[in-house]
Amino acid sequence: MSFSADLLAWYDRCARALPWRGERDPYRIWLSEIMLQQTQAETVKGYYARFLARFPTVEKLAGADEQDVLKLWEGLGYYSRARNLHAAARIVAREHRGIFPTDAEGLKKLPGVGPYAANAIASIAYGEPVPALDGNQARVLSRILAWEDIIKTPFDLRSPALTLISQERPGDYNQALMDLGAAICTPRRPGCARCPVAAHCRAHAEDAVLEYPRRPAPVAKKQQDWTILLMRVDGKLLVRQRPKGLLGGLYEFVAISGHFDEAGLADALTGLGFEGVRLLRPLPDSKHVFTHLVWRMRGWLAGCDAAPEGYVAVAQADLNALPFPSALRVYREIAAEAPIASDS
Ligand code: ADE
Repeated sequence: MSFSADLLAWYDRCARALPWRGERDPYRIWLSEIMLQQTQAETVKGYYARFLARFPTVEKLAGADEQDVLKLWEGLGYYSRARNLHAAARIVAREHRGIFPTDAEGLKKLPGVGPYAANAIASIAYGEPVPALDGNQARVLSRILAWEDIIKTPFDLRSPALTLISQERPGDYNQALMDLGAAICTPRRPGCARCPVAAHCRAHAEDAVLEYPRRPAPVAKKQQDWTILLMRVDGKLLVRQRPKGLLGGLYEFVAISGHFDEAGLADALTGLGFEGVRLLRPLPDSKHVFTHLVWRMRGWLAGCDAAPEGYVAVAQADLNALPFPSALRVYREIAAEAPIASDS
């Protein structure tokens, strides 16, 4: 049997039961693929159900407030996905009369739909034989083929991937590779003894599975130091909406670039326009690792009499209604419990 036939026979027996499997509605398939881009399927399940309960059609999503969309996305991370999703829904609803583009080329024109998602959606929704090449599929295929070239992006494998894909069931084939990559052909401890396509795997035959994919030398992540302040004013907490860019549109507490001693921090805050600053107590450190960046955060509980423009003071009870990035989770949890109303 061919590689794809063995893979599909395994998929028919062992496919993960996921809520978007067997789905025909392109809106739902699109939503699942966008959510799944940087997030594991187990985590996505709950978000997917809540999102569809609130926005069952592309028209409903197109008519939503961005704040409500971001709120339902809260905790999934990579928030540009949510903003692009919303923008794409508006385009489909208003410019395409609610009908999604019917091939990968057309899907790629929607905001937030890159080559991977376009191919995943087109293969699953419309049976177009195009490979959903992400890091997982690239890892599996590089092992099957014992691919010697360094893989800079998964799409470096486009030509060989096109020769392997099932013409009859490309959507199932792509999802079978996702399941194989998630459950068996894992990065560090692949389960070759259980692999349904081991007989087709050149890396396995050479006993060299862990040597693939060939990788470029890693680049060090940029480190950034931040001081995060839960800053009280009049019994409320200061927050502001982040500008466009990283985590744009989400809320944050007072944040100053750099780490300081107490006197230096008070000076820096005064320099930024905070008046009557009182540093009350240090809060725990926290670290958040993004794809290309690490935030090293130190925290303070503080109070002031007046804040510079751009900040709003919100009551502790209202914090929950605002979307905050997961990167600030530690401070947000403290903010929910810290004594804010009194100045002790
Ligand atoms: N990751 C990306 N797309 C997926 C899908 N359709 N099923 C499981 N995992 C995925």
